Amino acid sequence: MKRIAVLTSGGDAPGMNAAVRAVVRTGIYHGLEVIGIQRGYSGLLHEELMPMTLGSVADVIQRGGTVLYTARCEPFKSPEGQRQGYEVLRKHGIDGLVVIGGDGSFRGAQKLAELGMPTIGIPGTIDNDIPCCDATIGFDTAVNTAIEAIDKIRDTATSHERTYVVEVMGRNAGDIALHVALAGGAESVLIPEAPFSLDEVIRRLERGVARGKKHSIILVAEGAGSGIEIGKHLATHTGFEVRVTVLGHIQRGGAPSARDRVLASQLGAYAVDLLRQGASGKMAATQNGALAAVDFETVFTTARKPDMRLYELVNMLSI
Ligand code: F6P
Repeated sequence: MKRIAVLTSGGDAPGMNAAVRAVVRTGIYHGLEVIGIQRGYSGLLHEELMPMTLGSVADVIQRGGTVLYTARCEPFKSPEGQRQGYEVLRKHGIDGLVVIGGDGSFRGAQKLAELGMPTIGIPGTIDNDIPCCDATIGFDTAVNTAIEAIDKIRDTATSHERTYVVEVMGRNAGDIALHVALAGGAESVLIPEAPFSLDEVIRRLERGVARGKKHSIILVAEGAGSGIEIGKHLATHTGFEVRVTVLGHIQRGGAPSARDRVLASQLGAYAVDLLRQGASGKMAATQNGALAAVDFETVFTTARKPDMRLYELVNMLSI
């Protein structure tokens, strides 16, 4: 193995740069040439390849986003697109590829592996929706960003004695909502993985007011419903003053937390080690804190849920 490539794909996540840095520096440490592919699979198809040096990843470990840029690429979902991507990698003498991204990015990576390109995936998404790993890169930072926002919302919620509905990201997963609800002391949390009743949310709100509560915060995972619609429903059925905040893309930005930088550095280095050992079609992950290589096939066929004990805890602590 002489030359490897790295790309970031799908929604960006804080810590992706730390992972790219670790791939580049581990590769160079072992005498490999490392190529950066810009704009994910789209850049691969357009041959946006550039040599990476130690200096290309200087001063990036603390930066959010991805210096390689990212994209969601429809053409790469077709067998023709995947074959074309494979040919581009071969044309440029690439012997192994590291893909940093989420589930969709891994599906593309698996196809490249099937075509014969040794490929390793690193879980990078704020959603934390990848099974068989302790956490995805970016999740911890996104939760901290959302909590900072919740703390601020709580100040104004208390002053005005209002109910706030806060919608957070996560696609079809409730992990961000759940962790933010627990760490932010929310009164209710609505996630796609658990059935919920707005009548019960209302009962909780009314119970709170009856015992003198000045404000309430209800966390809604985007996969569970629209914060705006839920806010309207609550206002209509309680007569309380309700405000809605959709946190949106601020959750994707910002300097990565120490935890995300450490995870990204570990996984970036491990992905290169796996390629050097001849592995392919696997995700580099941590499981119970230890490094683990998991077949993409296992990742795709394993069901996952957030830790539902946390869900019970939110509900218990907010009685
Ligand atoms: O997967 C990350 C994520 O931020 C999701 O939480 C969200 O549903 C989606 O991406 C938003 O995508 P876009 O940036 O394309 O609007």
